[in-house]
Amino acid sequence: MRLMSDLPIYAQKNREMWSKYAPDWVEPGRKSWESSVITWGIWSVLESEVGALGDLGDLAGKDAIELGCGTGYVSAWLARLGMHPVGIDVTPNQLATARAFQQEFGIDFPLIEGSAENVPLPDASFDLAISEYGASIWCDPYVWIPEAARLLRPGGTLVFLRNSTISILCGPDTGPISNVLVRDQFDLYRVEYDAESVEFHLPAGPLIRLLCANGFEVLDLIDIKPPAEAEPTRFEYMNLEWAKKWPAEEIWVAKKK
Ligand SMILES: C[S@@+](CC[C@H](N)C(=O)[O-])C[C@H]1O[C@@H](n2cnc3c(N)ncnc32)[C@H](O)[C@@H]1O
Repeated sequence: MRLMSDLPIYAQKNREMWSKYAPDWVEPGRKSWESSVITWGIWSVLESEVGALGDLGDLAGKDAIELGCGTGYVSAWLARLGMHPVGIDVTPNQLATARAFQQEFGIDFPLIEGSAENVPLPDASFDLAISEYGASIWCDPYVWIPEAARLLRPGGTLVFLRNSTISILCGPDTGPISNVLVRDQFDLYRVEYDAESVEFHLPAGPLIRLLCANGFEVLDLIDIKPPAEAEPTRFEYMNLEWAKKWPAEEIWVAKKK
């Protein structure tokens, strides 16, 4: 990566926060690396039920970039399907975990230390750009969406998972999610729950406009519902009963024209 000081202040903050908490993500990361099936989000909803990636048989041999890859399990799943993934993440400690898992599980793919807002790779290099709570919430959409568009080949697909807008609107700065709206939707964009980090949660209207302005056609917006047998998660802000009534997570699928 170029100098840390080249990053915007919010990205420097997020990198410091993720450096601190990376050890907490090792065991969850290992469980996901161990899994032979692709799942989405905090309730591990099966891709076979969600269908965000289309026909998995069509993916072999194609090139994928994971934007904010963290411990790298999404890229590992794609590699097992025969794809050629590349992971980029801004936090060295997260990449160290990903490298350790590559050794442990015998799956190798390039890992780049850098920001998903400024990827050091040529235009039109990938068929799929994917993010599971990576760039999709930690990067500025007005920067990372154009970057994803640049990296994709015509006809390529952008798939990303993020917190739903309604979950952000019902989520106070501290404590569990509420049954009432606690945040305004107009001007919702940059959200700072604490002094440690900065998230981005653009609502659907401006996000659709941004995707279209960058040459994408929006194909799907999938609301994630926890399965009937789901159990409460380790994420204290989220409440299973809440998530059975309203979508807590959503997957966007868009095609580069
Ligand atoms: C919740 S993890 C998601 C990754 C993966 N799905 C996982 O759970 O390991 C969020 C990741 O986004 C990364 N991240 C934050 N800001 C970033 C940026 N500007 N560019 C690339 N990665 C970034 C963090 O370092 C962290 O590894």
